[in-house]
This record gives sequence, structure tokens and C-alpha cells, in this order.
Amino acid sequence: MSILSGRRIVLGVSGGIAAYKAVEVCRRLVDAGAHVSPVLTEASRHFVGETTFSALASEPVQTSLWDETSPIPHTKLGQGADLVVVCPATARLLGTYAAGIANDLLTATLLATRAPVLVCPAMHTEMWEHPAVQDNLALLLSRGVHVVAPEEGRLAGGDIGAGRLADPAVIIEAIERMFVPPDLQGWKVVVSSGGTREAIDPVRFIGNRSSGKQGHAIAAEADRRGAKVTLVTTVDRPINQSIIQVRVESAEQMRQAMMAAAADADLVVMAAAVADFRPVAPAADKIKKDRGVPQVILEPTPDILAALGVVKPAGQILVGFAAETSDLRENALGKLTRKGADVIVANDVSAPLVGFEHDTNQVIILVRRAEADEVDIIDVPLDDKRRIAAVVLDVAASLRPTDGVARSN
Ligand code: PMT
Repeated sequence: MSILSGRRIVLGVSGGIAAYKAVEVCRRLVDAGAHVSPVLTEASRHFVGETTFSALASEPVQTSLWDETSPIPHTKLGQGADLVVVCPATARLLGTYAAGIANDLLTATLLATRAPVLVCPAMHTEMWEHPAVQDNLALLLSRGVHVVAPEEGRLAGGDIGAGRLADPAVIIEAIERMFVPPDLQGWKVVVSSGGTREAIDPVRFIGNRSSGKQGHAIAAEADRRGAKVTLVTTVDRPINQSIIQVRVESAEQMRQAMMAAAADADLVVMAAAVADFRPVAPAADKIKKDRGVPQVILEPTPDILAALGVVKPAGQILVGFAAETSDLRENALGKLTRKGADVIVANDVSAPLVGFEHDTNQVIILVRRAEADEVDIIDVPLDDKRRIAAVVLDVAASLRPTDGVARSN
């Protein structure tokens, strides 16, 4: 039986060309056994028809706060829902919702519900990247609203860029994940994300291309699954405010923050790309280029994952990553052994759409099974970084101590 069977889902559709894809989302939800109540905004009806949704959902479509059959439809819909999904969510819808304005049935339902809310933005690239839209989204995220980010691709009018509604299959999977039981409840999870910066002088640094997307996805997924999450990060990306964020810049700052936070953690995940080298003596003032090319002497940075492996308390699960460009398995196996980790998530960052900066990743997960003295290897095909995060946490949860009790309980 599907995890969606019997769930009451309000499907809000706002007015963008991607509204036609909401028809497919509606069909898949109904096929999975969910009770779908479609709510269409006035603008969405320029793109899709009520009859299509009511035929698929076997429910009348609701469009107005002033419906004669139900005097207060927004409270009825909001209170009865297990989940409210807005697909697509336009810039206007996000702005209205973030500002707490209830000017139609859909925005009134969003304010009147205590159920979780999932929004699936879709709009033109310029609108998607506008600071006002990103600020509204960050505000909604900080209030606990869940987001399925749009993809890059062909947009209305033939332009190509970010802002295309996520594929219906991705949206359905995100909806299914909303109903997965909070299996990490009681766990303390510490995650690192982003690339460290090692100062050469006050304006220049040695760094790398890590965007923090993978680490942030792991933190967000652990939070959704009920864990108490601390995220030690070098990057500024929107994240739920229930996650404790510790901002750092250099490898040494990350080391200190991770060692402190990890001491009583059940699960520690080093997804950050820590610079391997740093200048021995960063200049106090900006190095002048007219004085010739500077000779920067480097030294190794502290290996944070290895240090965490040395002090790892009994029962703690330690997950490292490996970013490779060749011999993925061999190199990852070496890191599993050398760094004292229980799990290594290895990505070949030279492959298309894998690793740094992309929304997607493809990994192999090496799991040390202590009792059997062997290493399992799990292949995870190319997928959204949120899905990779979910698989990494599934693996970590499978290693929990046999009494099923988290260390921090
Ligand atoms: O941030 P994104 O743009 O989403 O990209 C994701 C990612 C490519 C950064 C991520 O998937 C990833 O591979 N992270 C690890 C990058 C890395 O530094 O790999 P590594 O093979 O050099 O290091 C192995 C492990 O040791 C890593 O867990 C790393 O965090 C850790 N390490 C490395 C060096 C160091 N001085 N201290 C460490 O703790």
C-alpha cells in the first residue's frame, strides 16, 4: 500500500504556465490513494480547467472564499488537511503567503492550516533569481515551509534557465517523504557544509567550488525526520530556523566548531569540502601586485574527519565524504580506513551533473559493518541532492545501536 493512501491533500494551483503539470501531480496522488482537494486561484484558471481537476480528484474544485455550499471553506480545507501542496507556486503566491496576506481561498487556506506545507515554485529565471522572491522563500523556509526547488530547463517563450517546475515524479517523491515517520527523533545530528576559505591576505583566499547544497540537504532532511540538527557551514543558504547554524570560514574554525558540536552527537556528517592546504603565514595587509608574484608557502590543514574519528564516542555514527576524479572505490575505501569513519559517501566530481554546485549528485556509499568485518557498497544513481541526503540518512539510521536508542536520549 502506498504511503499516500488515505492522506488528505489540498492541492493548490496558482497561475503560471506550469499549472498544466499540476494535473499530472493530481493524477499521481489520486492513483496512490490520496484524497485530493484541488484549490485553483483565479489566475490559474487561465491555464487549466476546473473540470480536469474535479474529474481526476472526484471532488469539486474550490476556487472562491465565497462558495455558497461552504460558508468558511478555507478553515474547513486547512483544518482537514494532512498536507497542503502548492504546485506551481508563482512569485506572487510566495510573496502573498510570506507577507501573511489572505486575499483568496488558497492563501487563506495556507494561513488557516496547521498541516505541513510544501511549495513548488515555478517562474521565469529573472523572477526566480530576484532578491525579493529569494527573501520570501527564505522567510517561508525559516517558518518550516518545505520547498521543492525548480529545475533548470526550457521555460515558457523558449528561454532556458532556472525556474522550471520540478518534474512531477520529483514532486510526488517529495510529498511521499513528508509522510515518512520521524525516524531520527531524539537524535542529535551534526553536519558540515560548504568549502572552507584559507586566507592568503585580507582579500584573497584558497577555496573550492562547494556550494553547500549537499550538506544543507542532509541537514534539512535530518531536521524533517525529527533530529536536533547543528549545521556548521561556510555558506549562506536558506534553511529552516529549527536548525542551529554555526557560521565558520577556515578549516581551523570548522575544526573547532565540529569538535565541540560532535562531542555528544549521535550522527556526524562531514559533507564540507575542507581545503587541504593553507598559507603558513597569511599577510596582514593586502599583497601589492607591483612587488612581484608572491611565494605563498602552504601547510596541510587539520584533518577534521580523522580527528573526529579519533575521539568518536561509542555508538556515534561518523559519515565522511570523498570527492574523487578517478579510482572512486579504491580511494573511498582508503579514506574509510584511514579516517576512522563508519560510512564514506563517495562522488566522482569529474562526472556530468555530479558533485560541486549541481542540484544533483551520484554516489557510492561504503558502509563498514563492524560485526561482519566487511564493507558494503551501495550504488546510488544520479538523483536530486535531497534524495541522496535521504539515502545517506537511511544508511546511518540502519547503523543505529541495536537497542534502537539514540545516544543523546
Ligand atoms: O557543496 P556542493 O556544491 O553541494 O558539493 C558537494 C560536495 C562535492 C562538496 C560533497 O559531495 C563532497 O564530496 N564533500 C567532500 C569534499 C572533500 O573535501 O572531499 P575529500 O575527499 O577531499 O575529503 C574526504 C573527507 O575528509 C571529507 O568528508 C572531508 O570533509 C574531510 N576532510 C578533508 C580535508 C580536511 N582537512 N579535513 C576533513 O575533514
